[in-house]
Amino acid sequence: MPVSYKQAERLQKLPPYLFVRLEKLAAAKRAEGVKMIDFGIGDPDLPCPGEIVRAMKKAADVNENQKYSSSQGEKDLREAIAEYYKKRFNAKIDPDANVCVTIGSKEAIFNIAQAFVNDGETIIAPAPGYPVYSGAASIFNNAVCEKVALKHENNWLLDVDDCPEHARMMYLNYPNNPTGAVADVDYLKKVMKWAGRNKTILAYDNAYCEMTFDGFRAPSVMQAGKNAIEFMSMSKTFCMTGFRLGFAVGHENLVAGLTKCKGQIDSGAPIFIQKAAIAALQMYNDKGELKDAARKNIEEYGERRKVIVEGLRDLGYECDMPKGTFYVWFNCGRNSGDFTKDMIDKGVIVTPGTGFGSEEGYIRMAATKPIDQIEIALKRMGKKND
Ligand SMILES: Cc1ncc(COP(=O)(O)O)c(C=O)c1O
Repeated sequence: MPVSYKQAERLQKLPPYLFVRLEKLAAAKRAEGVKMIDFGIGDPDLPCPGEIVRAMKKAADVNENQKYSSSQGEKDLREAIAEYYKKRFNAKIDPDANVCVTIGSKEAIFNIAQAFVNDGETIIAPAPGYPVYSGAASIFNNAVCEKVALKHENNWLLDVDDCPEHARMMYLNYPNNPTGAVADVDYLKKVMKWAGRNKTILAYDNAYCEMTFDGFRAPSVMQAGKNAIEFMSMSKTFCMTGFRLGFAVGHENLVAGLTKCKGQIDSGAPIFIQKAAIAALQMYNDKGELKDAARKNIEEYGERRKVIVEGLRDLGYECDMPKGTFYVWFNCGRNSGDFTKDMIDKGVIVTPGTGFGSEEGYIRMAATKPIDQIEIALKRMGKKND
């Protein structure tokens, strides 16, 4: 007899992941033979620099690298991370007390809530924001998620005066997905002070730290002080999304809690991937600047972002030039779901801002297609409906 299995209540509470829904609409269009141009998901199309891939392959051949790592990660990678913080942010990090290697940053963003948030406690999630903060991190932990609106008039910077003072944890993310906004150290100091006063854990998502343009260099929250945990990712900087490697750096209690949690869940990232991450971190010069292919990739995303923004402005949309991330965020002037459906009809995939918890009207485009494709897409977008 066929059996059906009901999902746990907490899983049923999760909204369907945004991209799954979009993919269904696009698949129907593809089935009609339309070649879609996809600006939906933030997955870098450019290749991971060759030296990183070679280091990974070499490491995978070695027997010791085929075994379990530790939940905290390999010592040599943690030392390379501390060295990176020294060069890049002039921040002193103890590789044993302040660093935990993670399986991408998404895992750590979720697990930090598992480790520190009790039933019924409040998590602050910026809106719009990366869906995991209000999704799995809040729902699986029976937390109360309070979404706090990011506003255009504040340059999309979260205003701590809008935040509840009783929260256990606050997620914050600059350079920001989806708005492309950036924050400086003074802003981070202000938030850290607020968090300290309210005994709120500051969980700072810095996944796009190196993806910045026009001379802006993103800070680490560690430059504002040690009372926080920061999530870094290899995914965007080095086009390594599929490698699944990130790291968390911060207050020793927070790192210890995260590590303990991981010990029960995943037993650490594969060692040969960690060796690839060491090779990636060697792609910084002594001033903490990215070199060679890694730098070129970021520059390419910067160029594409310009072409998209200028093209959208030519089409009459209000659109800021983002200083960070490879996302362009603009106001389409109408219901974002309807706009997205129209664009899919024209062969272009964009993401409605409401999927990130935004107010109506906003659209995100990821600059993950080459310039010639962007130009074709912009032409399609400007075509009048039949
Ligand atoms: C804001 C933000 N944080 C974290 C992540 C997760 O990145 P990863 O798990 O690949 O390190 C993403 C991925 O898109 C993101 O946009």
